[in-house]
Amino acid sequence: MTLETFTEDFNKGYTYKGDYITIGGAKLNDEILANHFVNIPLKTINRHGLIAGATGTGKTKTIQVLSEQLSSKGIPVLMMDIKGDFSGIAQPGSENDFIKTRHSQMNLPYHSNGFPVELMTISVQNGVRLRATTSEFGPILFSRILDLNETQTGIISLIFKYCDDKKLPLLDLKDFKKTLQYLTNEGRSEIEAEYGRISTASTGAIIRKIIELEQQGGDLFFGEPSFDIADLMRIDEKGFGYVNILRLTDIQDKPKLFSTFMLNLLAQVYSQMPEQGDSGQPELVIFIDEAHLIFNEASKTLLNQIETIVKLIRSKGIGIYFITQNPTDIPNGVLAQLGLKIQHALRAFTEKDRKAIKSSSENFPSTPYYKTNEIITQLGTGEALVTALNEKGIPTPLVVCTMRAPMGRMDILSDSEINHIIEHSKLSKKYNHSFDRESAYEILTAKLERLEETQENKPQKETAKSSSKNQGSDLSKGFLKVVTSATFIRGAFGILSKIINNNSKKK
Ligand SMILES: Nc1ncnc2c1ncn2[C@@H]1O[C@H](COP(=O)(O)OP(=O)(O)OP(=O)(O)O)[C@@H](O)[C@H]1O
Ligand SMILES: [Mg+2]
Repeated sequence: MTLETFTEDFNKGYTYKGDYITIGGAKLNDEILANHFVNIPLKTINRHGLIAGATGTGKTKTIQVLSEQLSSKGIPVLMMDIKGDFSGIAQPGSENDFIKTRHSQMNLPYHSNGFPVELMTISVQNGVRLRATTSEFGPILFSRILDLNETQTGIISLIFKYCDDKKLPLLDLKDFKKTLQYLTNEGRSEIEAEYGRISTASTGAIIRKIIELEQQGGDLFFGEPSFDIADLMRIDEKGFGYVNILRLTDIQDKPKLFSTFMLNLLAQVYSQMPEQGDSGQPELVIFIDEAHLIFNEASKTLLNQIETIVKLIRSKGIGIYFITQNPTDIPNGVLAQLGLKIQHALRAFTEKDRKAIKSSSENFPSTPYYKTNEIITQLGTGEALVTALNEKGIPTPLVVCTMRAPMGRMDILSDSEINHIIEHSKLSKKYNHSFDRESAYEILTAKLERLEETQENKPQKETAKSSSKNQGSDLSKGFLKVVTSATFIRGAFGILSKIINNNSKKK
């Protein structure tokens, strides 16, 4: 096989009708080839992808390169930053000798540039606060985040139903705890008459789990204002897509919280985005670093739900990219749906490693130019085996790609740079205040006060008036009490079950 035939095949494989991004240059026989640009068509970015490789091989920098190129095309991204090493993208990088040589060999000019960034958080870290209400979460995901068994999950579903019927908004954990306490004490006969018995042992266990979740910072995540998915799709005044970085460094040891949060987010994105027209480019690209955390310990049901949503979300123009050390970390049902594959070096220390290398090389298109299974272990830092989907959805020829260098800084931001971004963010102004409108907690507390006072033989009328005065002062914070049944139906479980039903009908 000669260089001429390689070039011919390569050009055929990596030239498209529509727009594309360039992620690097081809390498053959240890040589970086000039003017052999590895291009990925925007049209198939929503067909998802995998970025894999041993530690330190360049996965995170590859996400940075992809994010920068997408942002430059006006496509916003969301990065799940578990290691906290992504923020540098906000500032221009600096050229060093390594970058200079690499880019001149590819014949690709190097520019440095900073990108519009939003820093977000679901926990105590500084950033735009992502929140969801308990009712948006829905009973199934809420039970999962609490790690409940089937009986306990049944009680959770019952409480959601009760609150829905009684128009009691479940906004935060406080609401849920209060309702549970009410139903095991004063409200016991009421719920048992209408909905059946609930065991005190189970409700005790649920309360303990909720307290545990609060101690892990879960109370920061539940509540209002709940995050509007449309705010992930922003484009700045220069036409660059926003790079939304969700700071998740303190969630590594809480895989359940992380995976449930992810599934809820994907369900919300799916339900709120319209079907995509023919724009020929994605609406949003989501990168999930350390993706094994989502799949570890995931139940069969959760895996099925993730698989289904990954399959369906594509039609909304959303691409999901999983980043992990080993492709075997990703379940086969999900792996089979990933169009772009960027495989950095793998190490062959153990028999298990060798098996993983064999199985991932078998998943690549066959090539006369490379010995795939040998090359996987020999790739240098910032080099990867790449195959994408062309505009017709057919895999492009497998190529060893020397990744271009990120335009942004390859190191993290300083604390003052981080504060500067957060202080100047429109979104932090919108979301970084919590409010506590009248919901289950306040309604039930008022009800209990009334009960107490009636028992003390106080005139009931007066008490009712004073409690409504209290409500009035709560509401005077500027929020009218809007309670519609739709608020409750929006729960992620509702969305998921709808998706799953529709999907099985389509089959
Ligand atoms: N495309 C690139 N251009 C220039 N340098 C790169 C590139 N990719 C990787 N590097 C160099 O390699 C180092 C490690 O890369 P990176 O942090 O992306 O690895 P990783 O695979 O994400 O590692 P880990 O598994 O530990 O998260 C970077 O700090 C950088 O110096
Ligand atoms: Mg990394």
